[in-house]
Amino acid sequence: MREYKIAAIPGDGIGTEVISAGVTVLNKLASLQGGFKLSFEHFPWSSDYFLEHGHYIPEGGLEKLKQFDAIFFGAVGSTKVADHISLWGLRLPIAQGFDQYANVRPARVLPGVKSPLRNGTAETLDWVIIRENSEGEYSGHGGRAHRGLPIETATEVSIFTRAGVERIHRFAFKLAQSRPRKHLTLVTKSNAQRFGMVLWDEVFYEVAKEFPDVKTDRELVDAVTTRMVLKPQTLDVIVATNLHADILSDLAAALSGSLGIGPTANLNPERSFPSMFEPIHGSAFDIMGKGVANPIATFWTASMMLEHLGEAEAGRKLMVAIEKTTEAGVFTPDLGGNATTADVTNAVCRFLES
Ligand code: NAI
Ligand code: MG
Repeated sequence: MREYKIAAIPGDGIGTEVISAGVTVLNKLASLQGGFKLSFEHFPWSSDYFLEHGHYIPEGGLEKLKQFDAIFFGAVGSTKVADHISLWGLRLPIAQGFDQYANVRPARVLPGVKSPLRNGTAETLDWVIIRENSEGEYSGHGGRAHRGLPIETATEVSIFTRAGVERIHRFAFKLAQSRPRKHLTLVTKSNAQRFGMVLWDEVFYEVAKEFPDVKTDRELVDAVTTRMVLKPQTLDVIVATNLHADILSDLAAALSGSLGIGPTANLNPERSFPSMFEPIHGSAFDIMGKGVANPIATFWTASMMLEHLGEAEAGRKLMVAIEKTTEAGVFTPDLGGNATTADVTNAVCRFLES
């Protein structure tokens, strides 16, 4: 029996609701599938934990996480803690500390789901956004001077390294190569930003030589938003910097029906560290505690986690159960229905059984 150790970090708000739903579905799947077992260990690291202990991750916490095969993460963010403290306290130390430089964000219109686009269907909107996840605009490089004075100054410096750019491009090309359309769109803002973004462009075309079968094109980040909305069918895989892809992937999730659908894998492709799987959404203050959070994003990322662990067949089976659930119209309010998180979870479990 293959056994995988999963660190579950539900975090804050609806993160706790969707991770609990995800664990239910994954355990159900493992028991039906046979051949493998998932053992979950729960970590209580959250904003309440921070308020009580003064830190999100305790001393030695990252070392402990290293022993797991994967991390299943909910969301972090609370009205009681400033967002830059919570994000840098929990999610970023894991993603950056474990060199999870490839952030993979698929977006697709699932069966039965209505896209806000007039031409948004499973045939026209089927993308994967690859986000550079280790540097760029979120390098944490900067500072503030003259605090509180009229001449107060702040810098927020983006860092782009050739090694960092090259590895994310190579990852994106390989992923594009594995898809039927084999098409990769480079997104930067290299007209206005003439150093880091130009390096991004240059390295892209160097790496492109290794992948002659992948068609490429290039778009400025502002222009690509219009293309996403008006000509979704012309896009397949998109590679963009940390900030740009962060924004584009929320848009992609909304265009595919709801932020509650979009999954993310934070991958360390070399497997020197565990990778982390999470929904792209946050802790959603407006709906937390109501039991109506859409768990689909978390189920989808759970399917990506299974694939990463080498259980691709189980991952596909979970994806089929998700699609049958959306096709049957079992929708939480964000998708226009009145199902609860538990209803969707039960529906997915039922379709796994059948
Ligand atoms: P959010 O993603 O939490 O919510 C945005 C909107 O989408 C809200 O109206 C929410 O109800 C809706 N929504 C999100 N997920 C949903 C789901 N599964 N089902 C149904 N509706 C859903 O983003 P927001 O409001 O900007 O941030 C709230 C907090 O979450 C902040 O503290 C922020 O820093 C944090 N955050 C954390 C992230 C993470 O841990 N990876 C990612 C994004 C935000
Ligand atoms: Mg985001």
